[in-house]
Amino acid sequence: MQDRYILGVDVGGSGIKGAIVDTHTGEFQSERVRLETPQPATPAAVAKTFSELVKAHQYKGVIGCGFPAIVKQGVAQSAANISEQWIGKNIIEALSLSSACPVEVLNDADAAGMAEMAFGLGRGVSGMVLLITIGSGLGSALFMDGKLVPNTEFGHIQMKGNAAELYASNKARKTLELGWEEWGQRFDEYLLYIQRILNPDLILLGGGVSKKFEKFEAQLSVDIEVKPAELKNQAGIIGAALHARKQMRSR
Ligand code: BGC
Repeated sequence: MQDRYILGVDVGGSGIKGAIVDTHTGEFQSERVRLETPQPATPAAVAKTFSELVKAHQYKGVIGCGFPAIVKQGVAQSAANISEQWIGKNIIEALSLSSACPVEVLNDADAAGMAEMAFGLGRGVSGMVLLITIGSGLGSALFMDGKLVPNTEFGHIQMKGNAAELYASNKARKTLELGWEEWGQRFDEYLLYIQRILNPDLILLGGGVSKKFEKFEAQLSVDIEVKPAELKNQAGIIGAALHARKQMRSR
């Protein structure tokens, strides 16, 4: 089975996005398709939208999928921006049944991080690199000398008595109608906390908000180099495809 061109899918809190990825270059070989994440995002509803996305690509083969939860052996262990019905559910089974294709799955932020380490600003960088995705939630992907430490979930460290993502995600910015300056200060507080507990050598910011970096850059006061990720919101799709290829090769 060829393992160069793989459909990567990024399941997010608001959109399910996919494209066929050239895993040698990280480039898209097809149009990126985005479908709305069904609300509530139950297993049955997400699996149906997933299969529609696969059909739209007329694709048959192994699919890589980034999923917004702690993922262990293909099973969701948490659910923050999707239905709680996912907890304990085998994602691989649910999605491969609906799409009639083999599926490999990993946490969505870990997927974005893998792509950024392979084709973006993390390429060849040693030491501790942390990618934070800013979207409906705050996702994290931690790398030590290029090797992923999966399922870190730093968006769930406690701030102001709640998960940090409720305070500093893009969803919080929109729901609370915060200006960029105000939101930037909140995000800075979050990064200062990360600095205290983790001290990474480099922080990369992914997700849609990374395109707006200049709007909040001035608020950031951490003593760590912080840069917007290079691959922007394509990273989750590319990393999902890379993960599928890695899994195929390890079999
Ligand atoms: C989830 C993470 C996910 C992040 C970004 C969080 O709410 O707990 O697993 O990576 O959102 O989607």
